[in-house]
Amino acid sequence: METARLTLDRDFTIAPVGRRLFGSFVEHMGRCVYTGIFEPGHPTADEHGFRADVLELTRELGVSVVRYPGGNFVSGYRWEDGVGPVADRPTRLDLAWRQIETNRFGLDEFMTWTRAAGVEPMMAVNLGTRGIQEACDLLEYANHPGGTRLSDLRAEHGRPDPYGIRLWCLGNEMDGPWQVGHKTADEYGRLANETARAMRLVDPDVRLVLCGSSNSRMPTFGGWEATVLEHAYDAVDYLSLHAYYEEDGDLPGFLASAADMDRFISSVVATADHVAAKQRTRKRIDLSFDEWNVWNQADYHGREREPFEEAPRLIEDTYTAADAVVVGDLLITLLRHADRVAVACQAQLANIIAPIRTEPGGPAWRQSIFHPFALTARHARGEVLRVEPVSPALDTGRHGEVPQLSAVATLDEDGVTLFAVNRSPDRPLEMTADLRDVHADRVVEACTLAEDDPHRVGGPAEEVRPRPLDGVKADGGTLTAVLPPASWTMVRLGRRA
Ligand code: AHR
Repeated sequence: METARLTLDRDFTIAPVGRRLFGSFVEHMGRCVYTGIFEPGHPTADEHGFRADVLELTRELGVSVVRYPGGNFVSGYRWEDGVGPVADRPTRLDLAWRQIETNRFGLDEFMTWTRAAGVEPMMAVNLGTRGIQEACDLLEYANHPGGTRLSDLRAEHGRPDPYGIRLWCLGNEMDGPWQVGHKTADEYGRLANETARAMRLVDPDVRLVLCGSSNSRMPTFGGWEATVLEHAYDAVDYLSLHAYYEEDGDLPGFLASAADMDRFISSVVATADHVAAKQRTRKRIDLSFDEWNVWNQADYHGREREPFEEAPRLIEDTYTAADAVVVGDLLITLLRHADRVAVACQAQLANIIAPIRTEPGGPAWRQSIFHPFALTARHARGEVLRVEPVSPALDTGRHGEVPQLSAVATLDEDGVTLFAVNRSPDRPLEMTADLRDVHADRVVEACTLAEDDPHRVGGPAEEVRPRPLDGVKADGGTLTAVLPPASWTMVRLGRRA
């Protein structure tokens, strides 16, 4: 069996584990909101119509931030349609997903839901069909204390206290030709800069996210980032990245997806720092990876010809064990870049390419990808450690040669947690870790998510989930474990009593 080595040293720190890395995303798309998080009349619904079963799973998932209301949806959205008495709210066409939007759920319901879920809101403004004024109006409604038309309107709607929403996205995927109101980099860069400056006049405490490319395969990738930053560097805080991965008949390449995310992050960091150098500024732009996940896009054929529908069943991917391994590896990669990735949102929370699935009037359950997210969110604490793996290589074709072992560790007052992925579809891997001076050599928990059939899927009755990993030892300053093929593993080491 081949072996990979790594080192756990308390001095090899990358950055503190930012809780905003464990974000999610709720879009008015398909059944994420309607019959996902919100279903008045469901047996578990509370007085607001929020599904208590989904709220409970959201808390268990450990989500910290939730981005809202889109996504492509936001680029045609009128936020004011979704506030005030529900009976007076208009029903509209949503052009992004060819939906009928009833507006029964809007900003005030979302804010009530975030409080019930214990998560921080992250709002997006519409820079597709709208502009500076509407963005400032929304911010005034949300965050201004009172005494103005829009802040008083919020009070009239039963919310006298300002929401104090800190994180705001300046539009969504504005480089994408599919986006309603899509723009060139110069058009968007100027609009985003002016919107950001105006929003800061309404509330100087906001943190603003500039749209980067929709994905790194866009023909404008790289140039888009540089141009929009040239326009808006001073006015914004973060630059966004989006990435979705799929197997598409190539399991070995798919299992190495995180190698692509790794390069993507490094390229965007380099581009942002290049613009900083050109502008002779010490200000650093960090990243908001505000859409990432596994999405089998080969199964999605667009909705250009579909009739407009209310809460249609859209991209309700059913996830396999291999998908969960990739999600675990993407989280490892985000942690490894915790010095520059400040926010990350898995897309999405319920039903739409989601860790949580529901049936209208029926159960809610955890998909396979739920588990690596929940365990990482729960146990990645303290400081992220650089573990310097020395690993056999895999030739993946799609991503070139990549290390077979992907790993990261975190160190907190209770000990060390190691997260590792064996990316080989068919070969186990022995992992040995030099424990150096981390003073943690008691195995508290070792679990792995791996199935003999990596395409096994779960459902409401039986989930694909991690199981205990036998044979993990931490003797004489060395940790050893055998990682099954195509597996995601977590080992928690505590201090000796
Ligand atoms: O998450 C689904 C969609 O993917 C979002 O609406 C869009 O931003 C992205 O292309």
